[in-house]
Amino acid sequence: MPKMMHLLAACGSALLLVAASGYVPVATAGEWPTEKGCKKVKDPDNVMKGWCAAISRKKGNCLGCHHAMVNPWPEALPPGGNIGPPFVAMNTRFANRDDLRAQVWDAEAKNPNTSMPPFGRHKLISEQDIDNIVDWLLTL
Ligand code: HEC
Repeated sequence: MPKMMHLLAACGSALLLVAASGYVPVATAGEWPTEKGCKKVKDPDNVMKGWCAAISRKKGNCLGCHHAMVNPWPEALPPGGNIGPPFVAMNTRFANRDDLRAQVWDAEAKNPNTSMPPFGRHKLISEQDIDNIVDWLLTL
């Protein structure tokens, strides 16, 4: 099962976290598109738009620093980075949506030395992109 191996490699630290917390990831419906595939999705909902903004290197490029607990991982997409914590169990770890949004809007508010760019404060992506990314994160 090469696909599974790829996922295991990509989400090693996320899986460790999962094992430690006993968290069972909710299966997501269907396959997530790659950056190229995102252009062809018809009538994307907010969650799909959020995924596409998060993986886009021109927008969030969140995966440059974070793994995401997405199953199955799109084969053509490089695995996420490990500079930031993996996106896993977001809806339990961020019970308050505003806290999660604030982290994406300006990570420096919580940690002035963070390497995470202040996406909202520096207008790196739109407010709508941030809302969509938060919608997507809360499905993980
Ligand atoms: C240049 C690297 C980098 C990029 C790009 C990046 N982050 Fe981060 N992120 C981090 C780091 C490092 C942390 C750890 C917290 C800190 O530094 O204060 C973090 C923390 C987080 C957290 C808190 C996670 C937790 O478990 O507490 C969230 C949520 C988050 N990032 C979302 C995003 C989203 C969404 C994007 C894309 C829009 C993104 N990040 C892009 C580096 C990055």
